[in-house]
Amino acid sequence: MRDAAPTTIYLKDYTPFGYLVDSVHLTFDLAAHATRVTSRIAFRPNPDAADRTFFLHGEELTLIRASIDGVQITPEVTDKGLTAPAPDAPFIWEAEVEIDPGNNTALEGLYMSNGMYCTQCEAEGFRKITYYPDRPDVMSTFTVRINGDLPVLLSNGNPSGKGEGWAEWTDPWPKPAYLFALVAGELIAHPGQFTTMSGRDVELNLWVRPGDEGKCAFGMEALKKSMKWDEDVYGREYDLDVFNIVAVDDFNMGAMENKGLNIFNSSAVLASPETSTDMNFERIEAIIAHEYFHNWTGNRITCRDWFQLCLKEGLTVFRDAQFTSDMRSAPVKRIHDAIDLRARQFPEDNGPLSHPVRPESFQEINNFYTATVYEKGAEIIGMLKRLVGDEAYTNALDLYFDRHDGQACTIEDWIKVFEDTTGRDLDQFKRWYSQSGTPRVTVAEEWADGTYTLTLSQRTEPTPGQDEKLPQVIPVAVGLLGPNGDEVRATEVLELTEASQSFTFTGLAAKPTASVLRDFSAPVILEQDQSNAERAFLLAHDTDAFNRWQAGRSLAEDTLLNMIQSDAAPDADYLDGLLAVLRDGDLDPAYRALMLGLPTQSELAAALHENGETPYPMAIWTAVETLRQVTAQHVQDLLPRLHSETVIDAPYNPDADQSGKRALGGAALALTSRLDGGAKATEEYKTADNMTLQLTALSCLLRASKGQAELAAFYDQWQHDRLVMDKWFGLQVSMAAPDATADVARNLTEHPDFNWKNPNRFRAVMGALAMNHAGFHRADGAGYALLADWLIKLDPVNPQTTARMCSAFQTWKRYDTDRQALIRAQLTRIAETPDLSRDTTEMVSRILDA
Ligand code: BES
Ligand code: ZN
Repeated sequence: MRDAAPTTIYLKDYTPFGYLVDSVHLTFDLAAHATRVTSRIAFRPNPDAADRTFFLHGEELTLIRASIDGVQITPEVTDKGLTAPAPDAPFIWEAEVEIDPGNNTALEGLYMSNGMYCTQCEAEGFRKITYYPDRPDVMSTFTVRINGDLPVLLSNGNPSGKGEGWAEWTDPWPKPAYLFALVAGELIAHPGQFTTMSGRDVELNLWVRPGDEGKCAFGMEALKKSMKWDEDVYGREYDLDVFNIVAVDDFNMGAMENKGLNIFNSSAVLASPETSTDMNFERIEAIIAHEYFHNWTGNRITCRDWFQLCLKEGLTVFRDAQFTSDMRSAPVKRIHDAIDLRARQFPEDNGPLSHPVRPESFQEINNFYTATVYEKGAEIIGMLKRLVGDEAYTNALDLYFDRHDGQACTIEDWIKVFEDTTGRDLDQFKRWYSQSGTPRVTVAEEWADGTYTLTLSQRTEPTPGQDEKLPQVIPVAVGLLGPNGDEVRATEVLELTEASQSFTFTGLAAKPTASVLRDFSAPVILEQDQSNAERAFLLAHDTDAFNRWQAGRSLAEDTLLNMIQSDAAPDADYLDGLLAVLRDGDLDPAYRALMLGLPTQSELAAALHENGETPYPMAIWTAVETLRQVTAQHVQDLLPRLHSETVIDAPYNPDADQSGKRALGGAALALTSRLDGGAKATEEYKTADNMTLQLTALSCLLRASKGQAELAAFYDQWQHDRLVMDKWFGLQVSMAAPDATADVARNLTEHPDFNWKNPNRFRAVMGALAMNHAGFHRADGAGYALLADWLIKLDPVNPQTTARMCSAFQTWKRYDTDRQALIRAQLTRIAETPDLSRDTTEMVSRILDA
C-alpha cells in the first residue's frame, strides 16, 4: 500500500501540465461508504507545454468507468493515478469513481466528522476525490451538484439551484483543485450580512452543529471586520454573493481557505466567554482574517507549484498580523510574534529540519507547512516593506493584484512587482527565500570625538544541504538614546548587506546607548555584548516598545543562564527593572504582563547549547522555578495593587483592553500563588465566570500541586464540551511536575474521553507532553517512549498529524549523550515500523540524519 522508495520532487524540475482545463462539472451521490463522484471535465492542449502525457492524479479511488468524448476507455491505473491516450485537440473527459468517506481517518479528501461530510484538499487531497490534474497551476471554473438526504449541502461559489435532496453550486472564478470544498450535514446557520465597498450585498453564514449556536457571534463579527479591513487597507473587495464558514470537529489544521466555503477546525472558530480564553478569542479573530485574506492572496492569485507555498502563506500571515496590530496593540502583537518565532521557527531553522522559506525539494508537501514557510515567510515581507517604505509597498501590492489576478505565480513574480515599482535590484534580497538558517548579527561599537560607530556583522551557520552562506540584506532598525534617556537619534533602518559594515552617527554630545533591531526589524539572532546596566537602562528608557521589552527579556535570559551555569543568585538589575515596569500604571497592562514572561526552558536549552554547554533539563527547570519564587517575593508588596488595578467592572469582552488586564491579573495571581500556597487562586476559581480566569486559577493550583478537587469539578462542569475538555486534558500535562508528566499523560490516554483519532484531543495530550520541557526530557526516557508509542499508533490512521508531531524530537542533538541515545532509539523504532507513512518516514529520517 505504501511506497517502498519515496520519490523526491524538485523545484528545478517544474514543467507545465500538457492540458488546460476549461470547466469542471462534478456530481456527488453521497453515501457514507460508497459515495459516487461523477466528473465531466473539458480539457484542451496547453500551447505552452512540451509534454502531452495525459496523466491524472488519483489515490484510493475505485474507477467505475471513464470516457473521452463519449467513448468508453480503459486507462492504465496505478496507485498514484491514471494515464490515457488523449487527443491533440479539445476533448471532454468523463469518469465515475467510488470513494469511502466513512473510513477516511486521514482527514484528507472527502471524509466524515460526526455524521457530517466535509473535505480537505490542500495540498494534494483532491486526488482522493476524483481523477484530476491535482496541481495548483491547473485552474478552472467548477460546477458542483450534490445529491444527498442531508439538509445542508454546500460547495464553492454561488448557489445555482436546489431542491429536495440536492443542491448545485457554481464558482465563476477559476481555481486550482486544492481550493475545492464540499460540506453536507445537519447544520445550523448563524447568519450575517456585509455590503462591499462597491455596494454589493454578501450573505454570510457560519455553519455549526446543533448545540454550538451560542458560540458563533464572535467569529461572525471577526469576519465582517476582516472584510472591511481588506477593503480599507488593501483595496480588496469580496467577489461572490455568499461567504460560508463551517466548523468541524475533526480537522488536521486550524482552518482552510476554500473559495467561498472556508472550513475551520471548531477550535479555531467557536467561542464563548464561558468556554474560551482570551487567547482563543484572539487566535480566532486572526485565523478568520487569515483565511478570508487568502481570497486575494492565495485564491485569486495562487501558487504555480507547492515550492511557492510562502507566496500565499507568508504574505497572508503578514496580512493577518497587520490586521491584528490594527485591531489590537501593535507592540503587543510584535512581541507575541517574536516570542513565537523564537520558540518555533528558530529551533526549526537551526536543527535537522532546517529548510529555505522556498524549499528546493520535498517528499511529502504536507511536511512543509512549517514555521519557516509561514512565519519566516511573513518576516521576509515585513523586511521588504521596511526597506522600500509603506507607500512603495502599497504600489507594489496594487501592481501584484493587477498584473497577476487569475494566475498561478512564483516568488520571482512577487519580487518583480517590487523591482518594477521601486526600481530597486532585489537580487541579493531574494537570498532570504533560498538560504536556510537564522543569520546571527553581532554588534560592536566605538565612540570618539562626538562620533558613534556601530559595526554590524552577519554570519549564518551551515544547515542541512547548505554549507556556504552568502551575506543577506538585513534591515536593522536602530535608535540612539542619550545619557538621560532622551532619544538623540530617531529610528533609522540600517541596511546590512555585507559580511561586516560600519555605520557612523556624528555630532553627538555624549556617548549614546544604541537600541538595535528595534521592532524586531529582521528575523535574526542578535549577539550584542551589553552590560546588565545598559540593558536596565534600555528597560527603563527605550522609546521603542519592542526593544524595551527585549531589554527585560535579555536580562531575564542572562540571569537564568548565570543561575544555571554558576548557581548565581537572580540578578538585581532584572528584579528592580521589572518592579519599576510593573509599578508604572501608565503602561498597557498587556505589555506589563509580557514583561513578566520568561524565555521558555527550551530556548534556554538552545542558548546553553550555543554556548557550547550541555543543557540539563532539570537544572533549567530549577532555575526557572527559583527565579519565579524570588520574583514573587521581590514584587510582593505590589501584588495587591496589581490585583486591584486589573479588576474589571464590565461585562466580559475579549478585546485588547480587557484581555490585557486579565493577562496582567493572571500573571499576578501566578506570583501570588507562590506566596500564599494557592489561597487566592482557590477563591478566584470559585467565582470565575469566564474561561480565562477559570483556567488561570486552575493552573495556579495545579502548579502548587493542589487543585485536584477543582480538576474533578471542572470535568463535571464541562464534560459535554469537546473544546473545553481539550483544555482539561492539556492543562494537566502542562502543569505536571517534571517527574510526573509522562505518567500523567499516560493515565490520560487511558481516560474514556481520550478519543485519540481526533487531532485536537491527541494534540491536547501529546502536544502538551512534548512542550513540557523537563517532563518530556525525563532522564529515564519515559516521555520519549510514550510519545513514540502514540506516534506509531496514530501513523496508519492519520499520517499528517503524526508527521507534524515528530518535530518534538528535532532538538535532540542539544542534549547529553544519554538522552541522545534514548531519543535515537525511539526515532529508530518509529522509522522501522512496518508500512510507516511517507509523511512520517520523511520527518524521522530528516531528524535522524542530523
Ligand atoms: N492553507 C492553510 C491550511 C492548510 C495547511 C491546508 C496545511 C493544508 C495543509 C491555511 O490558510 C492556514 O494557513 N491555516 C493555519 C492558520 C493560519 C492562521 C496561519 C493553520 O491551519 O494552522
Ligand atoms: Zn494560510
